[in-house]
Amino acid sequence: GKGAALVTAWASRLADQTRQIAEILAEFRLTQDQLLEVKKRMLTEIQTGLSKKTQDKATVKMLPTYVRSTPDGTENGDFLALDLGGTNFRVLLVKIRSGKRRTVEMHNKIYAIPIEVMQGTGEELFDHIVACISDFLDYMGMKNARLPLGFTFSFPCRQTSLDAGILVNWTKGFKATDCEGEDVVNLLREGIKRREEFDLDVVAVVNDTVGTMMTCAYEEPTCEVGLIAGTGSNACYMEEMKNIETVDGDQGRMCVNMEWGAFGDNGCLDDIRTQYDRAVDDLSLNPGKQRYEKMCSGMYLGEIVRNILIDLTKRGFLFRGQISETLKTRGIFETKFLSQIESDRLALLQVRSILQHLGLDSTCDDSIIVKEVCGAVSRRAAQICGAGMAAVVDKIRENRGLDHLDITVGVDGTLYKLHPHFSRIMHQTVKELAPKCDVNFLLSEDGSGKGAALITAVGCRLREQEQK
Ligand code: GLC
Repeated sequence: GKGAALVTAWASRLADQTRQIAEILAEFRLTQDQLLEVKKRMLTEIQTGLSKKTQDKATVKMLPTYVRSTPDGTENGDFLALDLGGTNFRVLLVKIRSGKRRTVEMHNKIYAIPIEVMQGTGEELFDHIVACISDFLDYMGMKNARLPLGFTFSFPCRQTSLDAGILVNWTKGFKATDCEGEDVVNLLREGIKRREEFDLDVVAVVNDTVGTMMTCAYEEPTCEVGLIAGTGSNACYMEEMKNIETVDGDQGRMCVNMEWGAFGDNGCLDDIRTQYDRAVDDLSLNPGKQRYEKMCSGMYLGEIVRNILIDLTKRGFLFRGQISETLKTRGIFETKFLSQIESDRLALLQVRSILQHLGLDSTCDDSIIVKEVCGAVSRRAAQICGAGMAAVVDKIRENRGLDHLDITVGVDGTLYKLHPHFSRIMHQTVKELAPKCDVNFLLSEDGSGKGAALITAVGCRLREQEQK
């Protein structure tokens, strides 16, 4: 009768819906072969960035950092560090003591950078930074100390020495004018001069990946790689000087800031990007740029999820087909919410309450689908990040002509630290894609602050040697 027909229609609609959702999420499932291909392409781009002939058009820029060795324990002194470009802006005082009992003591204060300052003029941004330093020096009672300072500035910088770095382009949420093409150390020094209140000795500009590597290397000398899986995604490692054709000299090694977030900007990842990746990219502050980063870092994973949810809602599979204002809001799914939604300890009812908290009214079925979407997006992120890392460690192994490499990677970043599955899947992928390497991942304790201070300490020592 009529009832039976209705039930059949309903059942077939449900089956159709399940199939369509599965099809969408299948686009995020990469095979082992596809991941090996990602690794291979990363190796190609690394080579393009290192060689003199091709580096101008390279997407993975492989920027020299002028950090030539990891710490040796003799670092000593009091240093200031700035940390700009992660989740928070911080000013730190770092006291490093060498000798039998090495210690590092840190004091820090977190400051907000309002979005109008992030996206205003360069002068406003640096005036704000200097105002924060001033507040910190007051707070610590050290206005007259003129301490050496390490500036962790987590954006692509073309360095010509340890204390000079020209900003290539902003990434992540920053867009301040008149900074690209400028030496950020100069911008900072000018800001300090404008304020006419205190003096500082800027010794080093440091990428967060490099600070992370150095912090871990201080405890564990086999650490020669740094990885950030946070707001942004990037890595650095110790490359042979003879392979870095953009720097004179063939002796020893230098740390290279890969800026791997831009991997794919030449189209080489187009076959694995989905319509949702393209939508996230199109709506971002820097369309066409940092395409790999937009597939695997905290600032964008939530955006991919949101775009999938919008599509599923449009098709009538979610939220009763109603696209709410909340769902239209950029940036609602921060890393911490994704991490909560995917936590295995959380019952579906709690997933619903998180969605409720974000302003999304969900049914029980909705919450199941949302969790599946989050899982598909974060798994792919961890896998392609692992594929990139597999390329790096295999490159180091080949550099050294080894059949087998034991190496430590220093890691930091909110995605790596907070997400319940990201780190495990990433480790697993590296293991599968670089079977000749034994990779030990070491969580960095405050790499940006401590690492900048360690690099500054080395910088000060080198300067003293030069003056002798
Ligand atoms: C972005 C920046 C890079 C930084 C990374 C992690 O990719 O361009 O310099 O290391 O984010 O913060």
